[in-house]
Amino acid sequence: MAILKIARMGHAVLRKAADPVDDPTSPSLRGLVADMLETLADAGGVGLAAPQVHVPLRLMIFFVPESRIELPEDPEDSAQDMTVLVNPGYEPLTEETSLGWEACLSVPGLTGAVPRYTRIRYWGYGLDGARIERRASGFHARVFQHEYDHLDGVLYPQRLDDPSLFGFAEEIRRDPPSLRPA
Ligand code: NI
Repeated sequence: MAILKIARMGHAVLRKAADPVDDPTSPSLRGLVADMLETLADAGGVGLAAPQVHVPLRLMIFFVPESRIELPEDPEDSAQDMTVLVNPGYEPLTEETSLGWEACLSVPGLTGAVPRYTRIRYWGYGLDGARIERRASGFHARVFQHEYDHLDGVLYPQRLDDPSLFGFAEEIRRDPPSLRPA
């Protein structure tokens, strides 16, 4: 296992669409995921997409900690164990979006308020080749959409609908601007 170098905003690998994985069960993919898990644990984020470690493949890892749940009464915004998704896809289940603060290991030190669909259905394949399909809302839906964007060469600053809601996390945390309600 190894801690991998994380590409930062501006690097070409973060600007292009990633390629589908041929075989989700291949040993080389398993090795890459092990390194991504170690890299994410070291960096302290909730998700990481393969292009962020300079590998242009449609592969992401993420989890939802209990502390990030936005809608505790909603079973689709629940804590999720570390999830590995190969060749993922999704569809929104509503046109409704909400604004939430996001950060990204490829955009260190910054945070921005980004609109995301509040309810989605997503799918993909695990490393055992089995199909995974879930409904997600709240933070669970947000983290999926953030990681999925990486596979299409999109970083969250490109999704800002109000560029004034973007800045250094250290400054914004002192006195966060209020966001429109969901
Ligand atoms: Ni990111």
